Amino acid sequence: MADPHTASSVLIAHHDARAGHDLRDTLASDGHRVHVVHDRLATLYQARTGAPDVLLVSVELAGRHDFDLCRQLRFDARTRLVPLILVSDHADQESRVRGLEAGADDFVTTPVDRAELLARVRSLTRLKRYTDEMDSAAAIITTLAVMIESRDGYAEGHCHRMANYATALGRALGLADADLQALHRGGFLHDIGMLAIPDAVLRKQGPLTAEEYRQIQSHTRIGDELCGNLRSLHAIRPIVRSHHERLDGSGYPDGLRGDSIPLLAQIIAIADVFDAITTRRAYREEQPASHALEVLREQVARGWHREDLVTAFTDLVVSGKVGALVEA
Ligand SMILES: [Fe+2]
Ligand SMILES: [Fe+2]
Repeated sequence: MADPHTASSVLIAHHDARAGHDLRDTLASDGHRVHVVHDRLATLYQARTGAPDVLLVSVELAGRHDFDLCRQLRFDARTRLVPLILVSDHADQESRVRGLEAGADDFVTTPVDRAELLARVRSLTRLKRYTDEMDSAAAIITTLAVMIESRDGYAEGHCHRMANYATALGRALGLADADLQALHRGGFLHDIGMLAIPDAVLRKQGPLTAEEYRQIQSHTRIGDELCGNLRSLHAIRPIVRSHHERLDGSGYPDGLRGDSIPLLAQIIAIADVFDAITTRRAYREEQPASHALEVLREQVARGWHREDLVTAFTDLVVSGKVGALVEA
């Protein structure tokens, strides 16, 4: 039996009722939930509304010549990412190629080998779980970024720009894809903990009391805890917690020094300084990129950032690869 992770909801669309029911019995015997339909309209309707994990469609129903149904499924945002297996009576190479071109992910030939079919459904279910997770993670991140930016004291678009600056620097440093993804998400969410800081503190005009300053600083720890609740945000926890640390140990919340500050958090910190200076705030106009780079160099001299990281970031700005918009 498939384990709960790979037990899925399968939509079988087969022009031949008997063949469709045979496939259903095979899949149901492995613990999958199965729905069978026999025509195109019902296939489109069920695929759009029934949220299947995998589609199993006979070549005849898909459209042996034009694979029109495959294209319709691929065109629709609701069904675009649902893995699709075509079922064919014969291993006809030409229609196989055309089916794959039209958006099918895999092929099985009848009479279907039970073990092979189950293996394919399981592996495509795993793929679907992964894309589902990505989809919902992306939606959560965008929603949270809008919430963060709607708080006072934030320049509009800060989260987007941070994601762009940080990934550009990460790419220039040759970091791996997983790190670049963390920088992108971390750019959006580094200040997620600000959601828990009272308006009265965030909006306060004039100097903060020591207690209010401590509250603002707590956004790093609170954000770290919030991210601990979502698996897709685990990779950005070091960014969220440590983006206000400084190389000389004078930062917060942990007073980390040197290499003990996660590299990704150091990158976000540099992008944060740059964006804060080059965008307009309630209390001052935006400053030119050259001034922001000057401030970063001063902060290197004070022992806050790694010189090589600021140099790499400066190169990106000078070459126009980031920050072009704020200079305009
Ligand atoms: Fe922050
Ligand atoms: Fe920020």
